[in-house]
Amino acid sequence: MIEYLAETGSTNADLLERVRQGERVSEGNWLVADRQLTGKGRQGRTWFDGAGNFMGSTIVEVRASDPPPASLALVAGLAVYETVVAMVSEPGALALKWPNDLLLRGAKLAGILLEREGDAIVVGIGVNLGKAPDLPDRETIALSALGPAPDRNQFATSLARQLDTELERWRTFGLPPMIRRWELAAHALGTELRVQPPGEDVLLGAFAGLDDSGALQLRLPDGEVKVIHAGDVMLARE
Ligand code: BTN
Repeated sequence: MIEYLAETGSTNADLLERVRQGERVSEGNWLVADRQLTGKGRQGRTWFDGAGNFMGSTIVEVRASDPPPASLALVAGLAVYETVVAMVSEPGALALKWPNDLLLRGAKLAGILLEREGDAIVVGIGVNLGKAPDLPDRETIALSALGPAPDRNQFATSLARQLDTELERWRTFGLPPMIRRWELAAHALGTELRVQPPGEDVLLGAFAGLDDSGALQLRLPDGEVKVIHAGDVMLARE
């Protein structure tokens, strides 16, 4: 079920609050807003409130038999990628960037924010359908760069269905096939990246795929491959 709101602070914050209040929010239910007054991005950033863009959140209930919950970032990224790729005339211009950004022509098209409350993980997704924010520090783009922007409600329906499919695959076949598919949907191996792990110096290196847990592998200039479990990643040209 998709619940549409005209305006809210943040759909992620709303779902987290419902979980905290003990309200039962089952998997497959979405909250989608026309406007978000305090939309949240990763790393404490603000998420742009663009009329007509997709801004929505859903819940995944962690089960003991699930692959590691951190790998949901990849699952959600693949769901967004598959939804968008089916709609565009230039599928080769789309690329996932670790952990879960979707790029179009190398600029940010969509972002995902995972937040946990007990056994519930709130998966918040923002996709620039018709409007890209003006940001000082990174290039952004909207799907309307490729043609008419898709209808927001149709987009929501397709994304909800695709995330269900990906969750089912993740639970049935485990993480390794998701990792292989994620790597195929990502920018090319060898792409130069700038990585900011929390509390550490910025690293420059080349994308060397993901390890078995879904962590980023970065080939440093001296040839060492460093495994990155958390951090902010940008294309070096950004
Ligand atoms: C990022 O920084 O790339 C993640 C952005 C996530 C934005 C979405 S919009 C819907 C949901 N509600 C929020 O407040 N944030 C997420």
